[in-house]
Amino acid sequence: MIFDTHVHYDDSAFDEDRDELISSLPENGIGGFVNVCADYASIEPVLEIAKKYDYAYAALGIHPSDVEDMDEKKLENIEKLIKKRGSRVVAVGEIGLDYHYPEPFRAIQKKWFVEQIELALRVNKPVIIHSRDAAEDTQFTLDRYDFRELGGIVHCFSYSAALALHYVKRGFYIGIGGVITFKNARKLKEVVSMVPLESIVLETDCPYLAPEPYRGQRNSSLYLPWILRTVANLKGVSEEMVERVTTENAKRLYRID
Ligand code: NI
Repeated sequence: MIFDTHVHYDDSAFDEDRDELISSLPENGIGGFVNVCADYASIEPVLEIAKKYDYAYAALGIHPSDVEDMDEKKLENIEKLIKKRGSRVVAVGEIGLDYHYPEPFRAIQKKWFVEQIELALRVNKPVIIHSRDAAEDTQFTLDRYDFRELGGIVHCFSYSAALALHYVKRGFYIGIGGVITFKNARKLKEVVSMVPLESIVLETDCPYLAPEPYRGQRNSSLYLPWILRTVANLKGVSEEMVERVTTENAKRLYRID
């Protein structure tokens, strides 16, 4: 069984066949997934999906591109939902910094990044980090905390192998998705070669970032084997080993039995 550590099945791209697709995952070797929240409006559908399937879990948090409308009241509500008995929330995410577009302003992104890290510490849940074009500020923020107990994933990792190893040392897993199958992913291939398998988790980030040979199409956990195979080839180990170790990693991190 492969574990998909990062999906967005609440996305409207799955409106036509959501139930059918999610129901078909176990028979196709996908043993579980964490549906990660992006904006505030997605909280409810994300929780609903996690409630509906016993192999589905939720992560609650606000993506850096969607923090414009955040306020203390919403943050309090997220905390309440995470603490609720039987909530199936296993992480805070996705949170972080995205400087690809000029907005939201960096100061706003940083404020809610820090607020949500503090939230994760209060509720004792690992963090799922989204960081794009913001290597320095992300590192500066994360280095102020000790994640060796709490744990976390730097998802869709897009920086250098040296930085990946830095995060591994500080308690993070490195999230590897469809980009690893792209021909021009030289830097990411180096990351996978350098980072120990014990610190790698697999993810699709579906509906985005479908691996080759499906690049550009709607992604789903059904394409995880293409990511897994590429990782196995780069590490020079069997696919069975990558499957076993990355699933153990995901369950250890998310504290799933
Ligand atoms: Ni995502």
